[in-house]
Amino acid sequence: MNLSVPQLQALVQAATLAPSSHNTQPWLFRLEGQAIELLADRTRALPVNDPDDRELTISCGCALLNLRVAAAAAGLQARVEPWPDAADTDLLARVRLAPGRADETDATLQTAMAERRTYRARFATTAVDPMALRSLVDAVHREAASLAVLDTADQRLGAAALVAEGDAMLWANPSWRRELAAWMHPRRRGDGLSLPALAIPAAQVVVRTFDMGHGVAAKDRQLADESPLLAVLFTASDMPSDWLAAGQALQRLLLLGVQRGLQASYLNQPVQVAALRPKLQQLTGLPGYAQLLLRIGTPTQVKPPAPRRPLADVLVTTS
Ligand SMILES: Cc1cc2nc3c(=O)[nH]c(=O)nc-3n(C[C@H](O)[C@H](O)[C@H](O)COP(=O)(O)O)c2cc1C
Repeated sequence: MNLSVPQLQALVQAATLAPSSHNTQPWLFRLEGQAIELLADRTRALPVNDPDDRELTISCGCALLNLRVAAAAAGLQARVEPWPDAADTDLLARVRLAPGRADETDATLQTAMAERRTYRARFATTAVDPMALRSLVDAVHREAASLAVLDTADQRLGAAALVAEGDAMLWANPSWRRELAAWMHPRRRGDGLSLPALAIPAAQVVVRTFDMGHGVAAKDRQLADESPLLAVLFTASDMPSDWLAAGQALQRLLLLGVQRGLQASYLNQPVQVAALRPKLQQLTGLPGYAQLLLRIGTPTQVKPPAPRRPLADVLVTTS
């Protein structure tokens, strides 16, 4: 029994619910018979914030995990071939779909895809349940990445200081601020950022013009300090295949977290500043490459979903 185009499109729609840096949604999807191909849309790259497309590839990894979850929930087996064409580095993965042998664990994550939010507000003071934490660590391992919880006072203070240092360095760079402001443009539709802390459209001008590093650093340091759980998602090496794995690991962690009443947000500044990245990894006491610094906890408010591009904009038609 062949899958119809609307069935395949429904899987793509689920994939687009994934998080992405600056909400760039740097992905495209091509329907190829009974397979869906995931392509990097490098026109949506962030050359200042993410010069190697590392976060871009992580974002695409998140979309790939969503695709796998949606396929499992539809009773399909999803076989992922990463980089199936050596000559085309934009073709990140081909997902071959077939009825039967669906992954049962993945299928249970279906409803979490629409409930997940990047939760930038303060969390409840409740600690994360140790069983839930164990399942998050396992979820990340399952996707060939690792999660190191920063739980000693030294580790937490060290991470908070690196976040503040990262903020100061990023905000001092006018090119970085311009790039961020471009993704906060009030005329953007279906993508980009709207930070509730800064009222748009004023925010965009303010971000572009002023180094707000000190204020942001103080706020982020506090968020890191008081986060119920601070954790580094890291990989053994630092190749595009690690970034794609890190994205799938991140999204599996986020969806599993939602199932357990948790949401997360990012304090990636020490990963984005090259000089600070090894220092963050050192804090874990483990070898590897830090990919993301996450704060995780119990939300106290319901947040609206961030915008997404229409399906037609992310589907590539084969001529
Ligand atoms: C690789 C990656 C890096 C991100 N980095 C940050 C970050 O440094 N700060 C932040 O506030 N959000 C960060 N985000 C979250 C995105 O801004 C968010 O996913 C996007 O705005 C869409 O919102 P949603 O996650 O609520 O759907 C990141 C997301 C990804 C996938």
